[in-house]
Amino acid sequence: MSSQTPYKVLCVCLGNICRSPTAEVILQHFCDEHQLNVTVDSAGTSNYHPNAAPDARSQKHARQRGYDLSMLRARQIKLQDFIEFDLILAMDHENLSDIHALHHVALKTYGDIQVKAQVYLMSEHDQDYPKQALPDPYYGGNSGFERVLDQCESSSLAWALQLKQQLGRR
Ligand code: 4NP
Repeated sequence: MSSQTPYKVLCVCLGNICRSPTAEVILQHFCDEHQLNVTVDSAGTSNYHPNAAPDARSQKHARQRGYDLSMLRARQIKLQDFIEFDLILAMDHENLSDIHALHHVALKTYGDIQVKAQVYLMSEHDQDYPKQALPDPYYGGNSGFERVLDQCESSSLAWALQLKQQLGRR
């Protein structure tokens, strides 16, 4: 499997400074732990914080669990991402519908041979948070950031196990 090009996953929230950078690092961690040939990136549906580092609160709470977000920088999702990535994961249902709208434009622009991305919720295979949104912690307190970490760990493990089955068959 290691001779193949990596399977590419993009985690997407609104601002790309709280939830999706956290998901990026945690999903990469679980994929690495399961020795999957997967690379993970993240983006926002908005362009509210171009090139910004993750929110200091997200960084602090993640660091307490051993995850380093400090090197990540925010960017907005673009049509090219639907060509580049195999899988695009939405953190909540509003992100999902925004991504579906862009997916539609990408298909019209580039066609279904080039556009390979599949779009799902981050919680798609998570039996502890089935198809639940990852709540936006930006305007809340510490518990929201801990909740993001709990859900990212749970949903990332579920995706790693799913991808292990899926990629084992490639
Ligand atoms: P995120 O959180 O989507 O998890 O990165 C937010 C970050 C910034 C804003 C909203 C949500 N904002 O409105 O600036």
